[in-house]
Amino acid sequence: MTNKNKHDAAWESAWKDLKARVGECQKCDLCRTRTNTVFGQGNIDSPLVFVGEGPGAEEDESGLAFVGRAGQLLTKILSSGDIDRESAFIANVVKCRPPENRTPLPEEMMACGDWLEAQLLLLRPKIVVCLGNVALKWILKTTEGITALRGRWFDWRGIQVFAMFHPSFLLRNDSRSKGSPKDLTWHDVQDLKKRLVSIGD
Ligand code: URA
Ligand code: SF4
Repeated sequence: MTNKNKHDAAWESAWKDLKARVGECQKCDLCRTRTNTVFGQGNIDSPLVFVGEGPGAEEDESGLAFVGRAGQLLTKILSSGDIDRESAFIANVVKCRPPENRTPLPEEMMACGDWLEAQLLLLRPKIVVCLGNVALKWILKTTEGITALRGRWFDWRGIQVFAMFHPSFLLRNDSRSKGSPKDLTWHDVQDLKKRLVSIGD
């Protein structure tokens, strides 16, 4: 199976199959409390994929990633860097909502990470942006936190990885003063845009 051409029948059937398997997944206990799985959505042809943590209440209700308050802030952040969120693909490390929006447990991330890995291997983006600690930890297997690693570029299997603060963190840290998480994020999104332009997108 090739994953170069996402419009060939083999790719399409692998993607559809993956989506169906996620939709009925019971690999961890989060399946018991979910309303919907959240596979992720967006442009499958994009060189850019965003990875968040996991669905919140609105995402669990709608089955769509980043549609609540954090999602609205994400849209704003991206447009401040002249990036249209619809042009990218957006997914999460865990596909089912953790109760009370708690951080996913390591075993939940392990179980669900297989789905994300399969998604990334099929999508083959040029850039993966980790939004916050959970995505960063899952991709880089690092114990270093987002505050130390944001704004930096890494490699994951030949894909460029960029770390940014999670929009929910920015909702809780609203200051725009110099050096604040919001200010740093504004710089990060400009840097991301520059990289996108340099890879010809
Ligand atoms: N937070 C996330 O990490 N993902 C979502 O889809 C929504 C909020
Ligand atoms: Fe399956 Fe992931 Fe949902 Fe757990 S969180 S049940 S691994 S889809």
